[in-house]
Amino acid sequence: MAIDGKIIVLTGATSGIGEDAAFLLASMGTLLVLPVRNMEKGENLKREIIERTGNSNIHLMECDLASFTSIRNFASDLKKRFNKLHVLINNAGIWERDRKETVDGIEMNFGVNHLAPFLLTNLLLDELRTGAPSRIINVSSTAHRYGKINFDDPEGKKRFCSIIAYGRSKNANILFTRRLARMVEKDGITVNCLHPGFVSTHLFDRLNPLIRYGGRLFMISPHKGAETIVYLASSDEVEGVTGEYFARKKIRKPSASARDDAAAEKLWELSRKYTGI
Ligand SMILES: NC(=O)c1ccc[n+]([C@@H]2O[C@H](COP(=O)([O-])OP(=O)(O)OC[C@H]3O[C@@H](n4cnc5c(N)ncnc54)[C@H](OP(=O)(O)O)[C@@H]3O)[C@@H](O)[C@H]2O)c1
Repeated sequence: MAIDGKIIVLTGATSGIGEDAAFLLASMGTLLVLPVRNMEKGENLKREIIERTGNSNIHLMECDLASFTSIRNFASDLKKRFNKLHVLINNAGIWERDRKETVDGIEMNFGVNHLAPFLLTNLLLDELRTGAPSRIINVSSTAHRYGKINFDDPEGKKRFCSIIAYGRSKNANILFTRRLARMVEKDGITVNCLHPGFVSTHLFDRLNPLIRYGGRLFMISPHKGAETIVYLASSDEVEGVTGEYFARKKIRKPSASARDDAAAEKLWELSRKYTGI
């Protein structure tokens, strides 16, 4: 779709893949809304985007995805400023090595990587309907393959393993994408998710230094990592395509556990209870 002038919300633009996606989208003439938790970092980013792209339609808004109240406040502020939305990109994410909790007392990987986009997206559906044809893009990961959801212990309270907790949150991104895609198809909203590649970013900062530095040898640049996001946001090739998982701009088959529609339904109900949607 012609993307200039389109209103795009992009989370996680202050670092890594999201930062490069923000520069690429701004250079295409979009109106970018950037929810950020660190306003100082956000101001620096905004200044740099305007300087480098000449696009001054960059709107910074405060939003901590580890807090349901902050997400709700952001959504309500956004509704006052914009009555429609064309693209929502749920990119922000974390990989916590130790078991930590959000402001609402929820395990951090599950809370920030899954429940936050679940809540934010549901709060913005009316604006996406008004902006239709519109697109939702969820940044998942190939790590979803080792993270089948454990409904008996979704937050790793009984047993916590960082890799599995992260993988489960990314598996949840795909289940959410597929379930939501069916729900909003009639509204002219498409929903897709992606693996951006193994990208050199701050995501791995909290992991073992050996994995971190060894892994750098095989990683691609954040610019390259942002390409599939920008493709899904802007390309005519994916007009009408929905409920799919992409990598390198191609549809891929996610793991069997991420294609389990019964699990997607169960996760949806669980997420509704957590977020009060
Ligand atoms: N890097 C990879 O190899 C890879 C592979 C597969 C999938 N992914 C996915 O790609 C996405 C982007 O990750 P990245 O690699 O670019 O990591 P990154 O460099 O660490 O960037 C993460 C972004 O998320 C933001 N964020 C984290 N917690 C937040 C919170 N509570 N509230 C608001 N914003 C928050 C960060 O904000 P601050 O700047 O304030 O920290 C930052 O802008 C994630 O969903 C990740 O799971 C990455």
